Amino acid sequence: MVLPKVHWRHYFGGLSFLILILQLTTGIFLIFYYDPTLSNAYKSVQYITNKVYGGSLIRNLHRWIAFSIFLSVLLHTIRCTLRKDFLHRKKRVSWLTGVLFLLPLFLLVVTGIILPWEWKGYWFMEMIPNYSEFIPVIGPTLKSFFIESFTLSRYFVIHILILPIISLILIDYHFLTLLRVRGIFRYMSRHALIAIPFIIVLIVLATYITIPSEDPEIIPMPLEGEYIPSPEWYFLILLLPLMYYRGDIIPMLSIYLPLFLFVGFAFLPYFFRGKETEEEEVEENAPMERGFRVIWDRIMNNRAMKGLITGIVVTLIFAIFTSLLYVGAYNSPTLGCNSCHNLSRGIRMGIPPEAFKDRNVLPNLNKNQWMMGHWFYPTIIW
Ligand code: HEC
Repeated sequence: MVLPKVHWRHYFGGLSFLILILQLTTGIFLIFYYDPTLSNAYKSVQYITNKVYGGSLIRNLHRWIAFSIFLSVLLHTIRCTLRKDFLHRKKRVSWLTGVLFLLPLFLLVVTGIILPWEWKGYWFMEMIPNYSEFIPVIGPTLKSFFIESFTLSRYFVIHILILPIISLILIDYHFLTLLRVRGIFRYMSRHALIAIPFIIVLIVLATYITIPSEDPEIIPMPLEGEYIPSPEWYFLILLLPLMYYRGDIIPMLSIYLPLFLFVGFAFLPYFFRGKETEEEEVEENAPMERGFRVIWDRIMNNRAMKGLITGIVVTLIFAIFTSLLYVGAYNSPTLGCNSCHNLSRGIRMGIPPEAFKDRNVLPNLNKNQWMMGHWFYPTIIW
């Protein structure tokens, strides 16, 4: 199989891969300074941000890439779906591995938020068990398993070793094997050129929209981070029903629906009759008016028009997805937790309490609506 040369169709696939490599690089940098113990994790992250040369940029870049990589992958996915890649037998493996890759990517985001072990990370660590409790049958067991088995060093190993290895295997099957035939270096160098504008945007964002971390000297405002996109949003979206509903509708929206969509999408190639060849799709069976059909064919035969139309469709679908994400999460003030939970208020408020696994001591952790409300509206709920 021959991959086309640099073409905007492959643009976001290549871009995702490149920023993934950039993410790997910034991650390796962070490994050297990060200390995965409860008492030192927060300090070590502060040290990276405030003392290490370039540390703040690298850390914030790591966050911004974590956020944007999903968008880039999303664009790539929309593009591949519109191109009906799932119809080609030869692309089945790529399709399946591509969709499955979303899982480790998602888990990387979730574990990555916990690692700095400030109150945001602590909140996330508590919400994972709360969320998993809604899974039928094994839910309660899973909940206590997540609480009991949690240590920072375990999540650290998962984040820097297990998930990256799984991702690498999936990516390898997804396209590296195909690419080896064509020459990875050639492909990469071509994509690197067109990825430059995006990387510049990421660096600018990482420089100017940073996580406040100079406390106790400079303390953020409680609502800081509203409207500012962050990787936390992807998990918050799943948890939203916990805030707005009670009862059975929560697992419906938070677990069954996403799972159904995910599995359905992953196995799309198996629902349709596969095609052996890779020629362009011709829609024969669309029952269209003759006149309209002729006009449609003429438009689709015109390269520029076709490009324009698919471009608009991709943008539209992308806009719908991102607006949903935005509407769900824009008012979560992700950066302001330290306004109240900071060191100048004493050790209890500075870093997560030692009794973080004991919900008898900290009963709020079991109250899903309280927890969600506290994340979204800390000044009101408290
Ligand atoms: C307006 C001040 C304020 C802000 C802002 C704030 N918190 Fe809190 N938070 C508190 C107070 C006070 C408590 C203790 C409430 C209680 O015990 O009833 C608390 C409790 C908690 C708890 C419950 C567990 C415990 O140990 O008591 C978690 C988790 C938490 N906050 C996380 C966060 C996160 C994450 C953010 C940022 C999104 C945040 N907080 C922002 C004041 C704040």
